[in-house]
Amino acid sequence: MSVRRLDPSQPASFTFSADNEAWARATIAKFPEGKQASAVIGLLWRAQEQSGGWLPEPAIRTVGEMLDMAHIRVLEVATFYTMFQLSPVGKKAHIQVCGTTPCMLRGSEALIEACKKRINEQPHKLSPDGNFSWEEVECLGACVNAPLIQVGNKLYEDLTPETLGDVMDAFARGETPEAGPRIERDFSAPIGGATTLNQPGFYEELAVRFADTGNSAGAEPVASPPDENKSNAGPAAALNEAVKVTGPDTARGASSIAAGAATAALTLAGTDASATSAADEADEAGKPAALAGPRGGQADDLKRISGVGPKIEGILNELGIFHFDQVANWSRETTQWVDNYLSFKGRIDREDWIAQARKLAAE
Ligand code: FES
Repeated sequence: MSVRRLDPSQPASFTFSADNEAWARATIAKFPEGKQASAVIGLLWRAQEQSGGWLPEPAIRTVGEMLDMAHIRVLEVATFYTMFQLSPVGKKAHIQVCGTTPCMLRGSEALIEACKKRINEQPHKLSPDGNFSWEEVECLGACVNAPLIQVGNKLYEDLTPETLGDVMDAFARGETPEAGPRIERDFSAPIGGATTLNQPGFYEELAVRFADTGNSAGAEPVASPPDENKSNAGPAAALNEAVKVTGPDTARGASSIAAGAATAALTLAGTDASATSAADEADEAGKPAALAGPRGGQADDLKRISGVGPKIEGILNELGIFHFDQVANWSRETTQWVDNYLSFKGRIDREDWIAQARKLAAE
């Protein structure tokens, strides 16, 4: 881990833009009286985004003043977490290579060598064209997909020096490459497909156990084997469903995916053929107005909304949502509906999709 110091060259001042100021005030107001300092990471992150990917000292000071925190307390946060950059970073991408043990054992040293060769021998220094910078960081929380890098809020996983080169080529072209593994697997699912919850007789055994524990009168078991004719039936589908809603854009633990998969599997096992999907059960009130297809055959790139990755974009498209202005016009009720549908409570508000969409729609 490198020593983290403020950059010797700093701008004279920092002021949040009007939009970011409004967002910051709304975020602070979400915390109970006396606990406003809890908004510090969110505000620092927004200040970093506004400052071209790094956090100048005046921005740290401004956030401290807004939260009524001692300057040293905000500095402690900003200098501790490697999500905050203390010096200017590459215009196209700042590459954070995980160098902790699992990633090291799976080849992170080769990734670091590739960064040294293509960007700069030294971490935190810019490439000759100013487009890239890199650093080594500690565990990024996705060790199952080692080795990996983080750029902004996206992880690029199961890398080799060659596939890292492909990711960098895409950034160099001005694209934001799709996050996730660079080998044939779905997120952190096993290579080659599911290896658990698919044993022959699994559902039959589950049915007997349910009957033993939940129905001593000897009535029909409450669990049923999956209906082979149902497109969404079976443990592998349950696992896929759990992974689908978890998404690659946030740091995630294997336990949350496993818990989601188990819940989904038990839900499927415990319902009969008339069971309905989560979407069917959702309250119709607030359901967003759907388009049959993108206007003019050209959908907006919804992934430009921070918090929307390729999977979520696909789900939104399935709902008939293709354009920024559709998201920009969501009512409170619609936001709630989509929130429930995507099964990640509060994310739309937390990432302020509507304000982001308004800005993007206006471009
Ligand atoms: S060791 Fe690299 S993500 Fe955990």
